[in-house]
Amino acid sequence: MKYLWQLSDEDYSKFLNQAFDGIPDNFNGRLLEIPIGTGVLSLPVYQNLPDADIISMDYSDKMLNAARNNAKNQRLNNITFLQGDVGNLPFDSEYFDIVLSINGFHVFTDKQAAYNETHRVLKYGGTFCGCMYVKGKNKWLDYFVKHFCERFNYFTPPYETIESLNELLCKIYSRVKITNIKSFAGFVCQK
Ligand SMILES: C[S@@+](CC[C@H](N)C(=O)[O-])C[C@H]1O[C@@H](n2cnc3c(N)ncnc32)[C@H](O)[C@@H]1O
Repeated sequence: MKYLWQLSDEDYSKFLNQAFDGIPDNFNGRLLEIPIGTGVLSLPVYQNLPDADIISMDYSDKMLNAARNNAKNQRLNNITFLQGDVGNLPFDSEYFDIVLSINGFHVFTDKQAAYNETHRVLKYGGTFCGCMYVKGKNKWLDYFVKHFCERFNYFTPPYETIESLNELLCKIYSRVKITNIKSFAGFVCQK
């Protein structure tokens, strides 16, 4: 990932910080992560959140099984893994204290439904955070996304720019904080 996205070691560690910036130390509430993928980025963070009640979702059973195995190997037992679509979340409204989405919004096909649902299931005062690819920061990476990531259905347009993401989040959330490392934006905001 570091190589593909032209992230130095320093950039990569900043990228991880910006991705998980919305989760307080010793968090012990309800957290929804969508999509978890294989959990390669988030499971190490969950090692430090033994009292949190975590639900990790992904559309793909294959990814979910890999995440489940990785969690087992890391002896994590406070995570529930669920298959599901971000556009149709099987939870009551205002159920979670944190909704985390790492590298999801540049993949989701129905982005409006994803924004609506992640907002709906979050409590008032809760935190929506994570990171996503943003266009317009690096011509080569934008070319790579268009001609490789989209071609193999890894990414789905349209994508936000830093500015349009800020505008979009400010319409539905308060205290919006956006950070930027190369072609990634981190976001932390409050409902
Ligand atoms: C780029 S991976 C990111 C995974 C992980 N957060 C990471 O950064 O390693 C994107 C994931 O989104 C999942 N996905 C795609 N569309 C989805 C949807 N509508 N609902 C839930 N998950 C979805 C895919 O199955 C895939 O595992």
